[in-house]
Amino acid sequence: MTEPMASAEVTELTRKYTYGTWRRQRSWNPLHLIDAEGCYFVDAAGRRYLDFSAQLMCVTLGHKNAAVVEAIAEQARQLAYVAPGYATDVRAQLTKVLLEVLPKGLEKFFFTTSGTEANEAAFKIARMATGKTKIISRYRSYHGSTMGSIAATGDARRWAMEPAGKIPGVIFAPEVNCYKCPILHTYPSCDIACAQYLEHMIENESDVAAVIVEPVVGTNGVLVPPKEYMPKLRKICDTHEVLLIADEVMTGWCRTGKWFAMDHWGVAPDILTTAKGITNAAIPLGLCATTGKIASYFEDHFFSHGHTYEAHPLTLAPAIASINEMKRMSLCERAVELGAHLGQKLNELKSRHVSIGDVRGIGLFWAVDLVRDRTSKAPFNTASEKVAGKPLVVDRIAARMMGNGVFIQAWMSHFVIAPPLIITKEEIDTGVAALDEALKIADDEAEN
Ligand SMILES: Cc1ncc(COP(=O)(O)O)c(C=O)c1O
Repeated sequence: MTEPMASAEVTELTRKYTYGTWRRQRSWNPLHLIDAEGCYFVDAAGRRYLDFSAQLMCVTLGHKNAAVVEAIAEQARQLAYVAPGYATDVRAQLTKVLLEVLPKGLEKFFFTTSGTEANEAAFKIARMATGKTKIISRYRSYHGSTMGSIAATGDARRWAMEPAGKIPGVIFAPEVNCYKCPILHTYPSCDIACAQYLEHMIENESDVAAVIVEPVVGTNGVLVPPKEYMPKLRKICDTHEVLLIADEVMTGWCRTGKWFAMDHWGVAPDILTTAKGITNAAIPLGLCATTGKIASYFEDHFFSHGHTYEAHPLTLAPAIASINEMKRMSLCERAVELGAHLGQKLNELKSRHVSIGDVRGIGLFWAVDLVRDRTSKAPFNTASEKVAGKPLVVDRIAARMMGNGVFIQAWMSHFVIAPPLIITKEEIDTGVAALDEALKIADDEAEN
């Protein structure tokens, strides 16, 4: 048994000897947390915080879900690890459950231990199965941190790896953003020009294996596409025999009010990747699911991919428990109902705060986009400023909210609100009230 440490020592050892991610290290002062339950977590001083973003939009069932904890303990006792080449009960049982909830047609699975690795698998599978190379991704996207998935990431997290981060053949299309369209169109008169532009890219490139999209862009601002976008993209991919990869790492598992965001448009991808909420984030697990057609290619071709921890039994057991809990508590339906309440509250905020440019979302997945100026839609801070380590307005607001007992995820010039799906209306009101109070900081600096 190790000796308990003073909180200051815990923070110092963490800060000094371990890396803080996606940031300059000098200013990192990690808060020491000791417990978490339901929609709350607790620091070493005993302060309790409402988790308004489910940490990294991943603790879907709330912290310390009893069924998930028990599934991990039981699997650890029974069979913690065997190599991926064996059949196990837990692998077979999870397979049955996945076949029920995933979009139809996805019927062969590769398990990883993160979202980034699920996307790595997707890229390799797409390249092997099509014999083609290029991957089209979009700006304002995030697909993970490893070399392939950071190369396909459209946001500033890719910059440090340029040009190495650009694995040969990854190219970027404009994102869907009806609030601030990158190609300066207006919905609906645009006739979904961003999708048409993507087709133009496919026609003018050779060798495109796949297009990867976050069906609803997550960290980069909960960009919900208009209803025509995804069916149109599906058609474009079919016409040009290009695979469509849906990265549902953040949008899966009832977050948007359906099992998967693609279900909103009745569009089945050729490959779907997911992670995060699949185990309530209690154990690292990712999934790369492919169609039977893709799977059939590998019947007689070498499947050149694998991990020591692929289909690790300990990672699979909590996925079964999590999915059962989502069903038991009807969390997709709950995300729709409570998401409507959250959306209404956030839109009320917009009418009171000049610094809010846009509020958008789906299910229990919302963004509040801050602008210095509502007319020009200029953000408070840019990606370059974040990378340069400049203090951001959204970070100051988030810090103030923490002081008032509410955690919110801030990014560049917006917030991503994605609480555990078990949150109550009263807790939503508490979180929104804390944002309401802290937005004074941005209002005072807004120029219009
Ligand atoms: C859409 C999306 N894809 C991929 C990833 C990478 O997942 P992981 O952090 O588990 O590697 C993330 C993580 O935030 C994500 O939001």
